[in-house]
Amino acid sequence: MEEDRLNSPNTSAIVIEVLGHRLHLSQDPNSKHLGTTVWDSSMVFIKFLEKNSRKGRFSPSKLKGKRAIELGAGCGLAGLGMALLGCNVISTDQIEVLPLLMRNMERNASWIMQTNPETASFGSVEVAELDWGNKDHIRAVCPPFDYILGTDIVYAEHLLEPLLHTILALSGPRTTIMLGYELRSTIVHEQMIQSWRDNFVVKTIPRSKMDSKYQHSSIQLFIMEPKASAKRGDGDNIQNSLVDDGSDDCCGCRSKEQEEDDD
Ligand SMILES: C[S@@+](CC[C@H](N)C(=O)[O-])C[C@H]1O[C@@H](n2cnc3c(N)ncnc32)[C@H](O)[C@@H]1O
Repeated sequence: MEEDRLNSPNTSAIVIEVLGHRLHLSQDPNSKHLGTTVWDSSMVFIKFLEKNSRKGRFSPSKLKGKRAIELGAGCGLAGLGMALLGCNVISTDQIEVLPLLMRNMERNASWIMQTNPETASFGSVEVAELDWGNKDHIRAVCPPFDYILGTDIVYAEHLLEPLLHTILALSGPRTTIMLGYELRSTIVHEQMIQSWRDNFVVKTIPRSKMDSKYQHSSIQLFIMEPKASAKRGDGDNIQNSLVDDGSDDCCGCRSKEQEEDDD
């Protein structure tokens, strides 16, 4: 599957198996809005979570009860992955996308709870409007969050600044930002990397940590932390951004819990 597309954006629904659950995402291929189909980097992201959830920072025991927000959620797949691992997730997008997003989140959450009532790790999902840069929308979701997620939300130059400001406004000193990103424009990519590096310690997730089927040469996953928080942990080792250090620890980053253990 390496170089093929992972999703079928022309169908009215897709099914993907994650953590023993069959997630069913409705799509609207006829809509002109980008958020009404599932994008490939969200599939790469959720399968990465699945692969790395048995132990470490993405295990349900570490994520249970953590607050996560997904930006530009579209059909909501990435947020569902974090909820399956125990997070309380707010999935956000522009108003036009919210009916489909709400349907997908509600249907999957209730299906998971009905068919697997023993799924103790499932957190919660809710949906909210959040237009990047809108201060009222940001205030309404009560930042800061433990996790900020976004897949395929960086694709146009004019969106970089409002997106960055939104992420900064939603972050606290211990927030982890996780982005899935498909390279389409070198100009946008370079600007994005520069602005992330100016504000965060940025790590790319090595391909070896991704699901072997759900990866693509143009899709990257990033984990970022505010610079000050990284310095409190093992910042000396991760000052150089975008380093694939091949560490055995997932992504080479230290978890908040590891930092707490050290304190
Ligand atoms: C390419 S789609 C990706 C959707 C989803 N994250 C996925 O991976 O399947 C980009 C998403 O960003 C959202 N978006 C674009 N500009 C936005 C803005 N200014 N504020 C909030 N969301 C925005 C779109 O509505 C859309 O859902």
